[in-house]
Amino acid sequence: MTQVGGQRRAPEGSLFITFEGGDGSGKTTQIQKVRAWFEERGYTVLVTREPGGTEMGTELRRLVQNGPEDVDPRTEALLYAADRAYHVATVIRPALEAGTVVLGDRYIDSSVAYQGAARALGVDEIRSLSAWATEGLEPRLTFLLDLPPEVGARRKDGKRDRLERESGEFHKRVRREYLRIAEENTDRVVVIDAVGTPDEVFSEIRGVLEERIEALMTPAQAPLWDLTLEGVLE
Ligand code: TYD
Repeated sequence: MTQVGGQRRAPEGSLFITFEGGDGSGKTTQIQKVRAWFEERGYTVLVTREPGGTEMGTELRRLVQNGPEDVDPRTEALLYAADRAYHVATVIRPALEAGTVVLGDRYIDSSVAYQGAARALGVDEIRSLSAWATEGLEPRLTFLLDLPPEVGARRKDGKRDRLERESGEFHKRVRREYLRIAEENTDRVVVIDAVGTPDEVFSEIRGVLEERIEALMTPAQAPLWDLTLEGVLE
């Protein structure tokens, strides 16, 4: 790992990609396909998810999603942030430092869309909270699997957790915020139409990977995280 000014850079072979989207958008299926794509090219890949990428995360996931009582919105936001801090410190960062491609099923944008916008806790506050929790670790690339919430809900019928049972309006706010994040971060976030079959959706994703892989794997262009956090926590 090299250090340049206040920033550390990724070692060769390391890359952090996240997958975002509403419930039932097919992230899990696509992540497995992306894992295979990287492995065929000789990369070491780690697939992980939030909440639940660690033992503590699994416990938090149970409490927040299917726990014995409803969690109030601020507690919910802090639990997701705590899970993320621990996940980054113990799983994601060590994997990146070891030169791994990390594929994350949900990350900061989930908190911004669900807690910041849909729960109306404030998108800037929630982003700052997560930036603090992760010491500013941002993915290089994010695939936003976009689809109308009704389609996602139909796919999930019968096995919905507490957040998934929220109203249609809640999920519309999630989608709207995701699309706003994408508009604000065109370098990082690619919007993928997630309505088609898994193979159709993956062919869009593969196209982006083929086009960008060389630039993504150039360590010189990849400040991974800002040691000073300047510009992240304002
Ligand atoms: P999960 O079962 O992983 O859903 P999916 O398979 O659709 O990803 O459940 C994750 C749920 O947790 C989902 O409803 C979104 C919610 N969530 C937040 O509200 N904030 C967060 O920061 C994260 C990571 C997830």
